[in-house]
Amino acid sequence: MKKKSFSYKISKQSDFKFFDSLVSYVKKYESVEKSNLTPVFITSDFCLYNADCLAVISRFPDNYVDMIFADPPYKLSNNGFTCHAGRMVSVNKGKWDSSNGFDEDLKFHETWISECKRILKPEGTIWISGTYHSIYQCGYLLQKLGFHILNDIAWFKPNASPNLSCRFFTASHESLLWARKDKKAKHYFDYKMMKEGHFPNDFVKKNNKQMRSVWVIGTPKPEEKKFGKHPTQKPVELLRRIILSSTDKNSIILDPFCGSGTTGIASKIIGDRKFIGIEYDEKYIKTAISRYNEITRMNESQLTLIK
Ligand SMILES: C[S@@+](CC[C@H](N)C(=O)[O-])C[C@H]1O[C@@H](n2cnc3c(N)ncnc32)[C@H](O)[C@@H]1O
Repeated sequence: MKKKSFSYKISKQSDFKFFDSLVSYVKKYESVEKSNLTPVFITSDFCLYNADCLAVISRFPDNYVDMIFADPPYKLSNNGFTCHAGRMVSVNKGKWDSSNGFDEDLKFHETWISECKRILKPEGTIWISGTYHSIYQCGYLLQKLGFHILNDIAWFKPNASPNLSCRFFTASHESLLWARKDKKAKHYFDYKMMKEGHFPNDFVKKNNKQMRSVWVIGTPKPEEKKFGKHPTQKPVELLRRIILSSTDKNSIILDPFCGSGTTGIASKIIGDRKFIGIEYDEKYIKTAISRYNEITRMNESQLTLIK
């Protein structure tokens, strides 16, 4: 069956030129990669590719992005069951999430993490999120490839689903590794914002005290899923904290496995950042675009409320 093409408009106003040189640089390789290396959506601060991230980032210039947030496949879809909203549901997230065996999974992670190192600016940082199914492989590779790990954050979900088997502990956290390009690199950290900022729903964070490496943030709110559900969607609040802590104004942020676009949405809400997202499932790209369009329609007071 012929693939339906996107009907989203690519904006071409004069102030929408920021991504132009990157886009034409990457597009040159379209025939070599036999992949769609033309973004399906671009504005002045948001650029989305509907493609395999390896095909796209392998064509990015060296030292281009300031921060990478990667939420790669967890490789945990094993036909098991979990509990969601009081119901027994399959843990299977999609074909993209099934494991190809330990060695193949390790190779996959090594390929994309190596490319991320090449395209990260010398002072840039990378975040990788995951559960024990993938995070130890990614942590090992960060060290093998010469990154310097700055923190491993435990994202605690107070409303995580219960454990059905009652034979082990209820999984209620994910790990986030934060690393700079190498040991000597000078990375950006907004210490003051993390200490003095407003994080009202996190009972571990005390006013005017240093931010700790345990973050209490609930799973995404229903309104974050109103344009479509993604099985491993991250809460905007989590990405908001990540972006505020590790990027400055005008930073270029990349999410190679962007799913429903949460990283881009948090970046848009904060403002003054440029976001590039890559996702190979068209349905999630559509969700990301709808979420972005909703933010752009908000007035200042609505934006202030969600900031
Ligand atoms: C863990 S989810 C990311 C969810 C995202 N953080 C969010 O908040 O919606 C990983 C996503 O990566 C996509 N994906 C997997 N392998 C990919 C690849 N090689 N290139 C691009 N996207 C990929 C999957 O379709 C899935 O949507």
